[in-house]
Amino acid sequence: MNNYFITKPPYASAPGKLAPLIKFINKGLRYLDTGYQIQELDNQVDMNTVEQRINYYHLLTNVINTGVEGDVVELGTFTGQCAALFGKVITDSGSKVQLHVYDSFGVSFKFKGDIENKLKENFTSAGLPLPLIHKGNFFDTLPIELPEKLCFVHIDCGFGGNAEEHKEVMLHCLNSVYPRMSPGALCVLMDYNDPAENGIMPNIAPGVKMACDEFLTNKPETITALYGNSYLHAYFRKV
Ligand SMILES: C[S@@+](CC[C@H](N)C(=O)[O-])C[C@H]1O[C@@H](n2cnc3c(N)ncnc32)[C@H](O)[C@@H]1O
Repeated sequence: MNNYFITKPPYASAPGKLAPLIKFINKGLRYLDTGYQIQELDNQVDMNTVEQRINYYHLLTNVINTGVEGDVVELGTFTGQCAALFGKVITDSGSKVQLHVYDSFGVSFKFKGDIENKLKENFTSAGLPLPLIHKGNFFDTLPIELPEKLCFVHIDCGFGGNAEEHKEVMLHCLNSVYPRMSPGALCVLMDYNDPAENGIMPNIAPGVKMACDEFLTNKPETITALYGNSYLHAYFRKV
């Protein structure tokens, strides 16, 4: 399933049968001088969907408004597409919660340039205070550099490795954050694909479900899958 969105150029060309239609609409948009084009989502470039951003907004607002104790952390930040949204929600709510982000900044996907600088630039250009950046491999930074208490965790550590490798990283992340999550805290898991909920969708990161399902065995928490259009995610709330 492809996911299209309206954007400003430069834009990618659409594949398959839709290509002529998209080309036609884009021609119309150009003729009308709108400055917008239809572009296909690219999972090497676009790290979340509009639907997921709406989910993040409501989930983070929920823990802030209900006074769940602790800070916000993101494990796997890249250039900060999700983190900037978290920063915006925190700032707009007037909360004193601190945002911490963790990444080795060693996976470039299609990005050319300094990833950490781009992350800082994204916050600055959005008028947001910089998050606390914890640079390094999770196996070195976690759990030692985590705050004592957490109210919201986003784990998004896809790096192109195989499912078993991804599962190991996910398990290390979950084992690190879980004991520090306050009662009522939320943990959102990017790429968690539950076919029972989502139907048949491409499973780009099977290691996430493998790790989470194993981790939550014999724990009171259960996973809730969320609609995210062509990208998937899910969350659990600490009992
Ligand atoms: C899909 S990207 C994160 C996208 C990000 N959440 C966003 O909104 O832009 C995954 C990130 O996880 C990081 N990562 C994966 N495994 C890691 C590890 N073991 N230690 C540190 N960072 C890791 C990669 O460097 C990469 O930047």
